[in-house]
Amino acid sequence: MKKRVLSGIQPSGAIHLGNYLGAIKQHIEMQQNNNYDCFFFIADLHALTTVRDPKKLADMTRDVALTYLSLGLDPEKVVFFKQSDVPEHTELAWIFSCITPMGLLERAHAWKDAVEKGKKEKTAGLFIYPILMAADILLYKPSLVPVGKDQKQHIEIARDIATHFNTTFGEEFPQPQELTPEDVAVVPGTDGQKMSKSYGNTIDIFAPENILKKQIMGIVTDSTPVEAPKDPSKCNVFQLYKLIATKEEIEDLESKYKKGGFGYGEAKKMLLAKVLEIFAPYRKKRIELEAEVGYVERVLREGANRAKIEAQKTLDEVRKMIGTRP
Ligand code: ADP
Ligand code: TRP
Repeated sequence: MKKRVLSGIQPSGAIHLGNYLGAIKQHIEMQQNNNYDCFFFIADLHALTTVRDPKKLADMTRDVALTYLSLGLDPEKVVFFKQSDVPEHTELAWIFSCITPMGLLERAHAWKDAVEKGKKEKTAGLFIYPILMAADILLYKPSLVPVGKDQKQHIEIARDIATHFNTTFGEEFPQPQELTPEDVAVVPGTDGQKMSKSYGNTIDIFAPENILKKQIMGIVTDSTPVEAPKDPSKCNVFQLYKLIATKEEIEDLESKYKKGGFGYGEAKKMLLAKVLEIFAPYRKKRIELEAEVGYVERVLREGANRAKIEAQKTLDEVRKMIGTRP
């Protein structure tokens, strides 16, 4: 039997190298594996916790869809859809919210962060964010949820909610397991912190070349002079290069650092060239897909129709179990 795989991504900003290496790359590789039955979606309702501009939300949703499709997501192999097109997500989220203890949500890192740092507006939606995420997941009863390490706690909460439901109403939801990439812990940003849209330290893989250049040339490095040998393990440029270059290329750059007489500017140029080399075919593909009027919309509509079949199956069972459809 095939293993069901499900994951979502928020359309809350341009897709960066961290999103790609930490999540999207795995998603696209999984579609090639015949043992997996993949569902991937754009979590536009989750993005509503931070985005309040309707045009921006619509544009970014399209942007994420184009990104996945340009990077090789095959909508024939994968069920690819937009969360808000499948209203079963929100109905199940409400049902879950009635059995989820407040304490479980109060312990969520993302909520605690919002409260402590005052980074995000403290809305009810942000508080129950993990409930909607649990509904996104459990509706499709997946075995695996491939996500970046920062999402681990959300999957644990989804498991807790599944247990609460099963003990209250009867066995319905299997326990989903997160799948985090082992080799890419956290991709560092241009300032050395975790690369994230919210820190403005990203390398946006589909940005125009001049912007990409500006982002990469702006990577923070120390002030070791050009002539002096450098420690690659302490350099952000090298850390990023290591994540995308071949073994030989990495060894070559490493020896250049250690030898000295090689400046960080040169290293940045090598990183830029590597990023452009890797993403050139995808950037080209994206231009082609952008020109195809109605393509993205059609893919998402068809994906939603396929997703709904599964979502409705689960929700019909749930409605019977809770008594709204005896
Ligand atoms: P951001 O922090 O830029 O807002 P998201 O929270 O939307 O990114 O993350 C989308 C996906 O990309 C998640 O699965 C997340 O784990 C992964 N991801 C985001 N940033 C990184 C990073 N710097 N390193 C590895 N994975 C990341
Ligand atoms: N919270 C996830 C993120 O920020 C996005 C997401 C929403 C998701 N629903 C999901 C991921 C369900 C996996 C499964 O990256």
